[in-house]
Amino acid sequence: MTAPPQFEVRNVHFAFGESIPRHWHGGRASTTAFLDNLSVFFPEGEAFFVRSVRAFRHLAAQDPELSRAVRDFCGQEGVHSREHRAYNSMVGAKGYPVAELERKVGRLLGLVRRRTYRRFQLAVTAALEHFTALMAHAILSDERVFADADPVMRDLWLWHAAEENEHKAVAYDLYLLAGGNYPERVAVMVGVTFVFWLKVLEHQVRFMRVDGNAASAAAWGELLHYLYVAPGPLRRIVPHYLAWFVPGFHPWDLDNRDLLETWKEHFRSSPTHA
Ligand SMILES: [Fe+2]
Ligand SMILES: [Fe+2]
Repeated sequence: MTAPPQFEVRNVHFAFGESIPRHWHGGRASTTAFLDNLSVFFPEGEAFFVRSVRAFRHLAAQDPELSRAVRDFCGQEGVHSREHRAYNSMVGAKGYPVAELERKVGRLLGLVRRRTYRRFQLAVTAALEHFTALMAHAILSDERVFADADPVMRDLWLWHAAEENEHKAVAYDLYLLAGGNYPERVAVMVGVTFVFWLKVLEHQVRFMRVDGNAASAAAWGELLHYLYVAPGPLRRIVPHYLAWFVPGFHPWDLDNRDLLETWKEHFRSSPTHA
């Protein structure tokens, strides 16, 4: 297993505002809607992650490295939530049903919290963190993904991707310490995959209805071409997704620390945030 990198909490603020075009992702409504649709999950989702991880932080007490990682995981997710709330408000102000969809995500996660045991919730967190880490890898490893995007939005997604990559093993390591096991994490991943992508589809349809292209084959074709063909981020992460199902899997089996170093260089000199 690769040693995870040290990471820090970057308390950054992005300059969301009027200057960001409605279809900020290369002028394409369908792919902008897809990214905005994913952003809807983050405020409630990351609050759930933090709660799930905090419930087991005592298990890291004997390990100063892991204790620090748990603390900074919570710090990073807290800043992500705050910036995605600002992002989502901007999208909501343009007429998309963001507030309603956020409430629905919150209700679903509330149900998981009330109806399942704590280690199950940590397994859900580790599974969803696997998704965020994979998407992060796809974003950081191919500059075509945000090549024609508004610079503020590009840098927000790159920053979030980089930090998801930095802390990708924290929930998983804690889950193993909590007695997590192979059958449970596989079953949870199957369920999480199904529910998450169904919710993504629901959000996408709702966003595209506002854009008036929910019934447009051209719009769906453009989105699927972007996601699966060129640049094809979702196609490229399939093998990495499947690695979860290998016994003995660990998030740092995918060693992409070099991508973090490249991103840090870019981020330091970019004027899109304070
Ligand atoms: Fe995050
Ligand atoms: Fe995360």
